[in-house]
Amino acid sequence: MRRILITGTSRGIGLELARQYAARDERVFATYRTPSAALKALESVRVTLIPLDVADPASIEAAYHAVNAQTDSLDVLINNAAISNEGDERLGTFEQASMLSLFQTNTIAPVLIMQRFLDLLKRGATGKIVNLVSELASLELRDASYAATYCATKAALNMYTRSLAHDLKPLGLTAFTIDPGWVQTDMGGRHAPLTPEQSVSGILRVIDQANRDANGRFFRHDGAEMPW
Ligand SMILES: NC(=O)c1ccc[n+]([C@@H]2O[C@H](COP(=O)([O-])OP(=O)(O)OC[C@H]3O[C@@H](n4cnc5c(N)ncnc54)[C@H](OP(=O)(O)O)[C@@H]3O)[C@@H](O)[C@H]2O)c1
Repeated sequence: MRRILITGTSRGIGLELARQYAARDERVFATYRTPSAALKALESVRVTLIPLDVADPASIEAAYHAVNAQTDSLDVLINNAAISNEGDERLGTFEQASMLSLFQTNTIAPVLIMQRFLDLLKRGATGKIVNLVSELASLELRDASYAATYCATKAALNMYTRSLAHDLKPLGLTAFTIDPGWVQTDMGGRHAPLTPEQSVSGILRVIDQANRDANGRFFRHDGAEMPW
């Protein structure tokens, strides 16, 4: 049994991550900002629900103490929680408050969460840190200005992950990013080709198979290496 911490499990991919790990009888710390009935239904002796607004450092601190009270180690941290902006963002419409909000949630929060939970991860058996990004994080694949701030937040998270992999390696920890694909969620919309079940079963396979060589790399949900 491994101990898994996931952010943003009220709905979408985060909820499905919690569901699939729970179905495997792993010990899941499912964190949420907004409680949902679907998440509440997963609560059990193995699945603990913990409030965590990732954009609020005080909430990160409180969640750390709540998790630390229940376990002395974590094997996997999945930074899943994120927000997106509308696709019509373009020169002339940029606005500081919404840009900062996206960077706070999508880029800064995962780094602060990695940092805060480091001691628990160091004591875990596998020590994997997984940051969910997007194909839209890839500079090489970029050929449009659509949702530039969202893309920039995910490209920046790629860079943090690749940079911090150097600090994590001597600690025996492995950090990498995964593009979940285009998925039918509130963020992905209903025309997306992948269901959350399909995307998450791929994500879990990538996490299971990742060894130390995965440190600092960028994968797709099917395990293919993504171009930076
Ligand atoms: N869906 C796609 O096609 C797609 C494609 C590429 C990458 N991704 C990435 O995959 C991940 C999951 O996306 P999704 O499609 O499941 O998105 P979603 O359906 O919009 O769900 C987002 C989740 O993040 C949570 N969240 C947002 N801000 C939060 C905060 N400050 N604190 C705590 N939780 C917060 C939401 O909680 P609330 O209910 O409280 O708002 C919700 O549980 C994200 O990192 C996203 O960027 C998704």
